[in-house]
Amino acid sequence: MIQVWEVDAPTMEKFFQELAREKPVRFTAQQLCSFTANYTTTLGSGGFGMVYKGQFPNGVKIAVKVLNRSSDRQAEEQFMAEVGTIGRTYHINLVRLYGFCYDQFMSALVYEYLENGSLDKYLFSEAREVEWEKLHRIAVGTAKGIAYLHEECVQRIIHYDIKPGNVLLDADFFPKVADFGLAKLCNRDNTHLTVSGYRGTPGYSAPEFLLKNHPITHKCDVYSFGMLLFEIVGRRRNAKVGSNESMDWFPKHVWEEYEKGDLAAMTVACGIEEKDREKAERMSMVALWCVQDSPDSRPPMSAVVKMLEGGVEVISPPKPFHYLYSVGMNVFQQANETGTSSSYATSEEPNSIWYKETTPIMAKYEIQVASS
Ligand SMILES: Nc1ncnc2c1ncn2[C@@H]1O[C@H](COP(=O)(O)OP(=O)(O)OP(=O)(O)O)[C@@H](O)[C@H]1O
Ligand SMILES: [Mg+2]
Repeated sequence: MIQVWEVDAPTMEKFFQELAREKPVRFTAQQLCSFTANYTTTLGSGGFGMVYKGQFPNGVKIAVKVLNRSSDRQAEEQFMAEVGTIGRTYHINLVRLYGFCYDQFMSALVYEYLENGSLDKYLFSEAREVEWEKLHRIAVGTAKGIAYLHEECVQRIIHYDIKPGNVLLDADFFPKVADFGLAKLCNRDNTHLTVSGYRGTPGYSAPEFLLKNHPITHKCDVYSFGMLLFEIVGRRRNAKVGSNESMDWFPKHVWEEYEKGDLAAMTVACGIEEKDREKAERMSMVALWCVQDSPDSRPPMSAVVKMLEGGVEVISPPKPFHYLYSVGMNVFQQANETGTSSSYATSEEPNSIWYKETTPIMAKYEIQVASS
């Protein structure tokens, strides 16, 4: 085993130079072995492989993700090209990629280490140690990270796997989106469905993957983000199997309460305090917009950020989940017949269907009109 202090100074010098040039650094398998003290501490595992804790000789902590290698492994140049793209994608709400390793035996990615791990740990624990206001900030930050991937990168990056496990939190609970760009980089293991063309994690992936009634676009991430918002509002996993094997599905419950005008009561039932209620109701409405059946009806992430931040008035969302309300084999059949051939305009949508700009004066005016 190689010890951390055995990594020579010139190697580290080269590392800092490459970091300065904003290029992910190529490490050898031996170096990774040294950084992780021979892979002693596991942080977790997911669809791509295992994640280990480590540190550079200068003390900077890292997370090393060792990727599963399948028989049809990617060519080195393709791997390097993808890693190059991920490594040059910077935003405060995205996990930074420091480098990678690619040799005959292993492919691995070296990321910045985030002290508090992933959001799922806090969202689904009984302890409720993260207060609601902080969860709201996490939602906004996550939305900003995804908006950057979709709308500000030279080449749009679709994440394909937005979920609480892929939102990491630093020591101050500042959120950063993890694993962007990975979908293109490697095949996932079988914990993630692999129906042809299907990507992501069940429960978070958009209906168009299964129904094939719309082309797959960046709006699949908006859908998954909506599912994450429901989980923040409910502080529970969206799907729970009840004692009599019936499915308790929280998003459907939110829609039904919203339709009855009972969102406030629902937030009380979720244990959200009075002071956070307005934000929670808004978050529920944004979630309902994000999970619309038609990808075109879902707002772009920049609009989601605006709506969550609260500077605008969220327009009433229409009913989502038609495909589930009318579930039956013929839904799937029709979708298959339609296939993926439907042509779709990909032009930018007008913002106006999701929200209205508001000013205090406008709001006052509307109240007067309503009461006159
Ligand atoms: N950069 C990091 N800093 C700290 N912890 C991390 C980091 N990256 C991953 N982890 C931890 O490792 C766990 C496993 O991550 P991994 O990405 O392999 O699985 P996942 O996110 O649950 O699923 P998926 O493969 O769909 O992304 C995470 O849930 C997180 O707790
Ligand atoms: Mg992950």
